[in-house]
Amino acid sequence: MAKDVKAGEGELRARHVAIIMDGNGRWAKKRLLPRAVGHQRGVEAVRRVVRGARELGLEALTLYAFSTENWRRPEDEISDLMSLMKRFILSDLDEFAAAGVRLKIIGDYKAFKPELVELVEGAMAKTAHNTGTTLAVALNYGSQDEIARAATRAAAKGPITPETIAAELDTADLPPLDLLIRTSGEVRLSNFLLWQAAYAEMLFTDVLWPDFTADHLRDALSAFTTRERRYGGR
Ligand code: FPP
Repeated sequence: MAKDVKAGEGELRARHVAIIMDGNGRWAKKRLLPRAVGHQRGVEAVRRVVRGARELGLEALTLYAFSTENWRRPEDEISDLMSLMKRFILSDLDEFAAAGVRLKIIGDYKAFKPELVELVEGAMAKTAHNTGTTLAVALNYGSQDEIARAATRAAAKGPITPETIAAELDTADLPPLDLLIRTSGEVRLSNFLLWQAAYAEMLFTDVLWPDFTADHLRDALSAFTTRERRYGGR
């Protein structure tokens, strides 16, 4: 049996899924709507997928919400994304907290406005002891930056090895990444979970993020259970 993968009645079950949520802009453009509406509908997809992840018993769901490169977007779009995140926490935290979801942030989120940092930290504190699905939201996240930070911390403690670096990554307390999904037809990792994806399965779908549903997630997990993972062996 492959290491680090739970077997349920002989099948491989994904424990940790990550998603590059792409295509909000194209979804809006196709409908002649402002990009902001695409992002709003993207948040609705986040809501559906977090509920789905809980119901499917995933241990961790990691979502790429804001990359270190996203600062290059126009100021009004950045501010739309920030206020959507704020509103999402304010409107959904109670439901997720009651359902046992633990909120975690990966990335250097302290670069955001103090108001958002405070809100995010309050949400993390409120859910810190929950033992259901961990929702890890990547904010101001870049994988190369994460690896550099982890390597610096590992070096300060002793010899650098893959294990000592992995222990310092932002995702150190999450199960190994099983499946990485990217929506909207783009086939690249865009500086997301480069280290963690070493043995992950990849799924690239043409579905635009605002159209992504819990059923898409369920189908992706079913496809995962039928894949044979070799970890370099045979
Ligand atoms: C990519 O679409 C999407 C983003 C850069 C942001 C993702 C953010 C959300 C779904 C909302 C906030 C998240 C949470 C967790 C509440 P794009 O704008 O790059 O689309 P395009 O490539 O079609 O232009």
